[in-house]
Amino acid sequence: MNDSISRTLEELEKCSILEKSRSIDVPQKERMLAITKETGELLSMILRLKNAKNMLEIGTSVGYSTIWCAKAIIKKSGKIITIEQDPEKIRRANENFQKAKIEDIITIKEGIAIKILKELRIQEKNKGFFDFVLIDADKENIIEYFDLILPMVSLGGIIVTDNMLYPEKYRQNMKKFSDYLKSKPDVITTTLPIGNGEEMTIKIK
Ligand SMILES: C[S@@+](CC[C@H](N)C(=O)[O-])C[C@H]1O[C@@H](n2cnc3c(N)ncnc32)[C@H](O)[C@@H]1O
Repeated sequence: MNDSISRTLEELEKCSILEKSRSIDVPQKERMLAITKETGELLSMILRLKNAKNMLEIGTSVGYSTIWCAKAIIKKSGKIITIEQDPEKIRRANENFQKAKIEDIITIKEGIAIKILKELRIQEKNKGFFDFVLIDADKENIIEYFDLILPMVSLGGIIVTDNMLYPEKYRQNMKKFSDYLKSKPDVITTTLPIGNGEEMTIKIK
């Protein structure tokens, strides 16, 4: 199991490095836009420290970050729900989950994140259910994502948000998000200069 996970991560890492180096021209729609390997290691470590079992991800792409998280979650017999709107990316993610042999612990919800989050949120069973969330989709709706997600996070649960520092085109939006988080009494938050900049937010009330 761990071998198949590591092999799939290595394969995807190679594609991601090529994509980021621009040494091959990957059309915009086909880009993985994945977290960095260091971020993957960090997420996996946080999940282990927290003994996390139930995870929610916004922005699956082809599944690189999901597989990093699954690596930790599978040890606790945990489950991941991940949201993606692009059917071709979902096809590739499913292929990668099968290669990694983790398809049994992952549910992909296809559609627009806000709509799916609203559907998840009205289900009583999801109140305080998730102990870990990764936000990594479009940046325009990030505050709305956070507000929809917070009631579904357990006390002491962790929300990580990617792209706080890079690409620079998102800086202004992400600064607004970070200021919003700092104004909230029910969370503590910090920006870690790892990968593209990771916001780590803990629900304390
Ligand atoms: C940065 S990529 C995710 C990368 C992935 N987390 C990883 O590190 O491997 C963002 C993904 O979010 C998806 N996305 C963007 N906006 C979305 C939305 N409003 N609803 C659902 N998915 C969305 C995109 O199609 C894209 O695949």
